[in-house]
Amino acid sequence: MPDSAFPSRPTPGRTCAQPGSVEPAWIPAGSPRRPPATDDLTAASAAPRPERVLIVGGSSGIGLALVTTLATAGSEAILAGRSARRLAEAVEALAGLPGPVRAAVADMGVADDVARLCAEAGPLDHVVATAADVSTAYGPVAAFDPDRARGLVDSKLIGSLLLARHAAPHLAPTGSITFTSGIAAYRPSAGGALVAGVNGALASIAAALAVELAPIRVNAVSPGWVDTPIWDVLAGAARPQTLDEMGRRLPAGRVGQPADIAAAYLAVMRNPFITGTVVHVDGGQRLV
Ligand SMILES: NC(=O)c1ccc[n+]([C@@H]2O[C@H](COP(=O)([O-])OP(=O)(O)OC[C@H]3O[C@@H](n4cnc5c(N)ncnc54)[C@H](OP(=O)(O)O)[C@@H]3O)[C@@H](O)[C@H]2O)c1
Repeated sequence: MPDSAFPSRPTPGRTCAQPGSVEPAWIPAGSPRRPPATDDLTAASAAPRPERVLIVGGSSGIGLALVTTLATAGSEAILAGRSARRLAEAVEALAGLPGPVRAAVADMGVADDVARLCAEAGPLDHVVATAADVSTAYGPVAAFDPDRARGLVDSKLIGSLLLARHAAPHLAPTGSITFTSGIAAYRPSAGGALVAGVNGALASIAAALAVELAPIRVNAVSPGWVDTPIWDVLAGAARPQTLDEMGRRLPAGRVGQPADIAAAYLAVMRNPFITGTVVHVDGGQRLV
């Protein structure tokens, strides 16, 4: 498995940003900082060409579903996470799909990791963050422990900001950054204050960065309950029964599948008029 080094693929006629520059890569030299003409964008959204997408958290669950969808359609996916083993298993499982899949070990909460990941990824069309470490994130506020909070805060909140910082210079002007919020912010439950806060903050950060990084678009997708390995952490061996019971409480009649959420990231990435917002994909969970 390629661990961290990717050949970057500079596109003829385009210039990459200088280190430290806030200008996105791929802007032709001397051009104003604006996206291509509307006709071009409309054509791009109707029939997307193969894209180059970085997915941090792409070795499992929702991120892996997005990687699978992209590679099936012939796009190039670069997936990142902390575990080399999980990344290798994902790359192996996706071998043979039309689009190339590469992997790199990186911890979203470590600034040097994120900087290196983005530098080695090279020019990008889109960036998606699905990474989250929830293993010590839940609990009553009476037992709140800053050290136990750091796993989620670093992986999801600080990590998303680091990713925006280091990926923006490599993104095409038509490109996008999509964070992952979550239902805990909109239908909070006891013991979930930290998760609610981080997910809610990501919605606000997406809005703020949509202004700051324009024309790059910045959004958040907010999943409801989704059947992924995260529930091995949250429900253990009771995962199937727990998710079955939870699904029956939803207007959709079931919990989400990772592909349900992957489709929303694609829609957000490819619609040139969506920026600064949250797209809820929750089976109606906010209504009940
Ligand atoms: N599933 C749900 O019901 C649900 C509901 C609402 C919101 N969400 C949100 O949706 C997103 C995806 O969740 P999921 O269910 O797909 O989770 P998952 O299956 O547990 O996948 C999480 C991914 O994030 C990676 N990751 C965790 N910490 C990381 C770190 N510090 N740096 C880099 N990568 C890291 C993991 O790989 P490593 O462990 O190898 O690093 C893994 O690839 C999360 O933000 C989650 O909060 C999920």
